[in-house]
Amino acid sequence: MAIEPTEVIWLDGKFVPWDQANVHLSAHALHYGSSVFEGIRAYDTKGTASIFCLDAHIRRLFDSCKVYRMPIPFTADELRQACIDVVKNNNLKSAYIRPLVFRGTGAIGVDPRANKVQVGIFAIYMGAYLGPEALDQGVDVCVSSWNRLGHNVFPAAAKIGGQYINSQLIKMEAVENGYTEGIAIDGNGFVSEGSGENIFLVRDGVISTPPLASSILRGITRQCTITMAEDLGYTVKEEFIPREMLYMADELFFTGTAAEISPIRSVDRIDIGPGHRGPVTKELQDAFFGLVAGDKEDKYGWLTPVA
Ligand SMILES: Cc1ncc(COP(=O)(O)O)c(C=O)c1O
Repeated sequence: MAIEPTEVIWLDGKFVPWDQANVHLSAHALHYGSSVFEGIRAYDTKGTASIFCLDAHIRRLFDSCKVYRMPIPFTADELRQACIDVVKNNNLKSAYIRPLVFRGTGAIGVDPRANKVQVGIFAIYMGAYLGPEALDQGVDVCVSSWNRLGHNVFPAAAKIGGQYINSQLIKMEAVENGYTEGIAIDGNGFVSEGSGENIFLVRDGVISTPPLASSILRGITRQCTITMAEDLGYTVKEEFIPREMLYMADELFFTGTAAEISPIRSVDRIDIGPGHRGPVTKELQDAFFGLVAGDKEDKYGWLTPVA
């Protein structure tokens, strides 16, 4: 997905023109993956941009940095405001916001702590992440030959840049083989998640999703989906999912800030249910997109208006 540059980027407390938000070649994060990031969407809610789950994303950013001993030189309120301002100052009605905390320059070597911690936030336009037809038609995916990493290898719940080399292997293999996305298996042989999405399964009207112990990112859209599903009267179970249950599901769908709620229509060329989006996925999409479009009441307080 190509980036369309916007006007300004928030970098270390100041707005700078898009072309001037540069870092030095010796920045630690470039060499050792020492960056922490978030992906946040802002939606056009009746003419005003509203940021979805801003506080949860800022909290996860701080949580991730804590694991990696990376002190953020700004408060949560300052970064929250910077996310709002980056949408406002670029006159965006909808946006994908990317806060990035990274180890800059200062020292060479694996121990990152002598390197300055820097923070940048940009906002760009983003359509449907898994392709223009993904939300209606569903996507064709495979089970990846690459596994998710064990909790004693990488803390899956911390959204660290370096961890995404694993996601890159999953995604590239899937796309090279003609699929839109790959699903990774965890270190114990159970279903984990997509390269950039959490996964849900529906069978006989019951919804299930892998638990945190399956090396998943603690997805914010995942949590919102659980909340909406329970409100709609569904039972949602967080449970270990053996691979074969993917093929036996009535419905499967991905959730994520970028992917939103995207149906999966086949896995390894085996149709899921009738091979197209199912009714439970559609009901959850309607609840989600109705809320973020401002057509349905924001009863959970998930939207932060930018104006
Ligand atoms: C590996 C991975 N899993 C799941 C998700 C979904 O998380 P969220 O809903 O917080 O965007 C993402 C996206 O950030 C991700 O990169």
